[in-house]
Amino acid sequence: MNANFRYGRIIAAVIFFIGVCLMFSSVSFAADTATFAKDVAPILQAKCQECHHTGSMAPMSLGTYEETRPWAKAIRERVITRQMPPWHIDPTVGVQKFKNDMSLTQDQIDTIVRWVDAGAPLGDIKDMPRPREWPNTDEWKATKELGAPDLIVKSEPWTMPAHHQDVWWRRTSDIGLTEPRWVRAVEMRPGSVAGRKITHHAVAYLAQDDPDSLVPGTTDDLRGRSLLMEWAIGKGYDLFRPDTGKLLLPGSKIAWDIHYHAVGEEVRDHVEIGIWLYPKGQEPKYRTYLTGFQAIQGEERFRRVDIPPNSITVSQRVTVLKKAGMLENFQPHMHLRGKAMMVEAILPDGKTEVVSYVGKFNFNWMTNYIYADDAAPMYPKGTMIRVTAWYDNTRANPNNPDPDQWVGFGDRTVDEMGHAWMNVTYVSDEDYNAWAAAHRKQAVADTAAQ
Ligand code: HEC
Repeated sequence: MNANFRYGRIIAAVIFFIGVCLMFSSVSFAADTATFAKDVAPILQAKCQECHHTGSMAPMSLGTYEETRPWAKAIRERVITRQMPPWHIDPTVGVQKFKNDMSLTQDQIDTIVRWVDAGAPLGDIKDMPRPREWPNTDEWKATKELGAPDLIVKSEPWTMPAHHQDVWWRRTSDIGLTEPRWVRAVEMRPGSVAGRKITHHAVAYLAQDDPDSLVPGTTDDLRGRSLLMEWAIGKGYDLFRPDTGKLLLPGSKIAWDIHYHAVGEEVRDHVEIGIWLYPKGQEPKYRTYLTGFQAIQGEERFRRVDIPPNSITVSQRVTVLKKAGMLENFQPHMHLRGKAMMVEAILPDGKTEVVSYVGKFNFNWMTNYIYADDAAPMYPKGTMIRVTAWYDNTRANPNNPDPDQWVGFGDRTVDEMGHAWMNVTYVSDEDYNAWAAAHRKQAVADTAAQ
């Protein structure tokens, strides 16, 4: 073998080696680059398009590449800060399993960020998933799970002028029942897409002659006893767990409290509530009450919240559970200066735990966090529910209309409120003890399994 031949072989081997390296690196480069077709479209379909499709509530559609591409930077920003999807509950404390979790996983966030940082490429069109179809925008959300509602009750319509002070529309509508019936699920919504813009929030109280409502409830706020449902932007439906429900009595009416605000165009709309009933004669064992646990001291109409200009303040209030009960959900309610809300439980033995904490409250999103069946916490009689609300009346709060204003309690969005809407299912002490024993066992088993 002459030297030239040997060198030739070595050079060939080196070239071959470099070639292989290049091939692998280009393969790994391709695997690394997130593309719209392969990686991002499936995430948008699963987590965004329900609101971001043509004709739905969000300002733009994220259906196709062409529609999405101009928003790439805004999408990156909103997902990194966890503002979108509108799921603002803290992922590190309190209950962490939900029935309606729409949040992105860290993996999904990273994928979106890699895609935007790589210049938001389309990728191979062959990888594109079939477009999701959104045929019927006026279907009730609960229909998928429960079929059509048994009853639909509408409020009297109201025409909101283009420019006007806020309006609280308080009217009643007959439910039309002649016998007691138990409610399994409720869903409320404005009557039209335009109506969503003017409807700040809506509360449906149950006006009925209820002997039970004299039984002491969980709170000194007696209105908490007779609420049927509360709706605000972003809210879905309330489905009560098996064997629990709300009771409607013959002759009962819905007493509406609908908060409208003007949006620069005239809109006429109503609010409607869909009601799913238990079959006739089927009586659930437990009764659920929607309760507004206050963060603010003082009684109805005289609540004391005092937020000086350019300041961050906090208010806190404790409510004692007079019966054992399960907390089913958490929906923080504050207005434009709302910054954060925490719910804690202080048990009779002094142990304190965080139930839920929303650290990035955004007034546009009164998201309802519904606890998963096996995660909803139950507390014994005498437990104190402590609600803490933080308000940001500085320029740093993007929703703040005027940081130089002094803010007090009131109905208008420029005034403040602070309460946690929670459905509470009351149980007997025996039921609570059985639940607590089972959960202690479960906790021991979980630890052993680790
Ligand atoms: C529950 C409905 C809903 C879901 C789910 C949702 N959005 Fe939104 N989104 C909205 C609405 C309504 C707005 C306008 C109000 C606001 O900004 O909060 C918005 C605003 C945005 C904006 C800002 C638009 C602007 O004008 O600057 C971006 C970006 C965005 N969404 C991206 C996403 C992405 C990405 C997802 C999924 C990962 C998502 N959204 C999921 C309803 C939703």
